[in-house]
Amino acid sequence: MTCRRRTLAGAFAASAFLLGAAGAGAQTPIKVGFMLPYTGTYAALGSAIENGFRLYVAEQGGKLGGRGLEYFKVDDESDPSKAVDNINKLIKRDNVDVVVGTVHSGVVMAMAKVAKDTNTLLIIPNAGAEAVTGPMCAPNIFRSSFSNWQPGYAMGKVAGSRGAKKVATITWKYAAGDESVQGFKDGLKSSGGEVVKELTLPFPNVEFQALLTEIAATKPDAVYAFFAGGGAVKFVKDYAAAGLNKTIPLYGPGFLTDGTLEAQGAAARGMLTTLHYADGLAVPRDKVFRSDYARMFKSVPDVYAVQGYDAAQMLGVGLAAVQGDVKKRNELVAAIEKTPIDSPRGAFTLSKSHNPVQDIYLRKVVGTENRVEGVAVKALADPGTGCPM
Ligand code: PHB
Repeated sequence: MTCRRRTLAGAFAASAFLLGAAGAGAQTPIKVGFMLPYTGTYAALGSAIENGFRLYVAEQGGKLGGRGLEYFKVDDESDPSKAVDNINKLIKRDNVDVVVGTVHSGVVMAMAKVAKDTNTLLIIPNAGAEAVTGPMCAPNIFRSSFSNWQPGYAMGKVAGSRGAKKVATITWKYAAGDESVQGFKDGLKSSGGEVVKELTLPFPNVEFQALLTEIAATKPDAVYAFFAGGGAVKFVKDYAAAGLNKTIPLYGPGFLTDGTLEAQGAAARGMLTTLHYADGLAVPRDKVFRSDYARMFKSVPDVYAVQGYDAAQMLGVGLAAVQGDVKKRNELVAAIEKTPIDSPRGAFTLSKSHNPVQDIYLRKVVGTENRVEGVAVKALADPGTGCPM
């Protein structure tokens, strides 16, 4: 009897051990692949995105949907010609469950195609290329940031309402610049102005002198510029050094002054920009985010950090709905689609094509801050998002 009892007890212990082992198997970490620029003009943007992502995960005790995370990283160098090889390193070599990337619109177009072909979950924490949440939209592709059109459109409305009738634009010649300028034109037109000169230079060149001379000769009412990262620092400084900021207001999407103000110094003083994030927002979630970020990284977060943080939130929403079972893709996707994201920028929802519908703020540079002045456009959706999913 005693012996039999022992045997049963032993059997129970053994099966409990096996169950435990199976449970532990289900608890292996989710593999997250960061494909971001860690070198070049957008390097600081890539790091801020990764920081924001890691911060949200840390706030959740290191787990999303009950599972830990394991990270893999590729430096995409903001180089579209290397994009397919780079994303395949994460998908084929590292076998990641989700790719988080990237910053550059040209790179993300190649990534989106691979993600679509391989049905890999992709969360875009910056690049605003309209195609990926337009004609290329797919159930497995989400964006936590913006479409290039959105901040541009808001700035166009603001510039027109401030009396700019004839405006010159300047940008790097690639999808982000082109689409940002198109958004600006649409907004400007709706408030009574027009673009009279469009200047471009190849990405990531920063030889602005000849173009600044052309702006001076054109004498527009205002200039709209799309640059970001290291290029934005140099452009704003060169614009001021040429004395143009004294006579011709320089406007832009907030990328022109986000994460760059320490380096731009007095050259950026008083500039007005539009973006889905700002300093001084009365958003409770932002207060927590900023103090946690400062504690973890000893620096002040910018819009890129917010977008990384929200990419992690979106993944977290999806994983929570499937208790970490990433294979339950349909349920995971449905949860992300329908759950408003409690972002430091203020809550946002996703359009049918998975792009944020969000308030765009007007900001003014005061010291080293992009102080919020108000909402330029409320709950702005990307108009080009008729997604046939
Ligand atoms: C883009 O390429 O889509 C892009 C890059 C940097 C920004 C914004 C957009 O700050």
